[in-house]
Amino acid sequence: MTRLYFAALFSLLMACQDPPKQKAEPPQRPQFTAAELEKGQALYKKYGCAVCHGRNGRGNGQIARTLNPRPRDFHDPTVYKYGRSVAAVSRTILKGALNERGMGMPGYPQIPEGERKAIAAFIVSLQGKN
Ligand code: HEC
Repeated sequence: MTRLYFAALFSLLMACQDPPKQKAEPPQRPQFTAAELEKGQALYKKYGCAVCHGRNGRGNGQIARTLNPRPRDFHDPTVYKYGRSVAAVSRTILKGALNERGMGMPGYPQIPEGERKAIAAFIVSLQGKN
């Protein structure tokens, strides 16, 4: 037991002497200007995403409860089925998210690419936020 303790202490001391290790880079979160995000949020409202996804993207829009699958919380980076990058989210908006039973979200091919990107940027900016 004591030996184990010393072994642990020793390795702890050794660890302290290690030169500062390069930490693994956290995944780069793309940076957007406040103006871009505001535009994305305005478009998110304009196109009615909030009815299902909630005004703040919490997955709690007025009709969310009636949906199966349920829209999820965009703040949680682990719940994205179709990818969580701006490109992936923009593509999901274009193609929709219908499962094999045809349930979920229809696509929005009518939204121009630039606007889809802006909405996607807004959604990505929510990831990891409280
Ligand atoms: C009629 C309700 C409804 C509307 C309106 C709607 N969605 Fe969805 N959306 C859903 C549902 C339900 C899912 C989950 C589908 C699934 O789990 O396969 C979903 C999934 C998504 C996803 C995929 C998340 C993932 O898992 O990868 C994104 C992104 C998304 N929606 C964005 C939007 C945007 C942006 C708008 C507005 C342009 C919008 N949605 C409008 C119901 C809706």
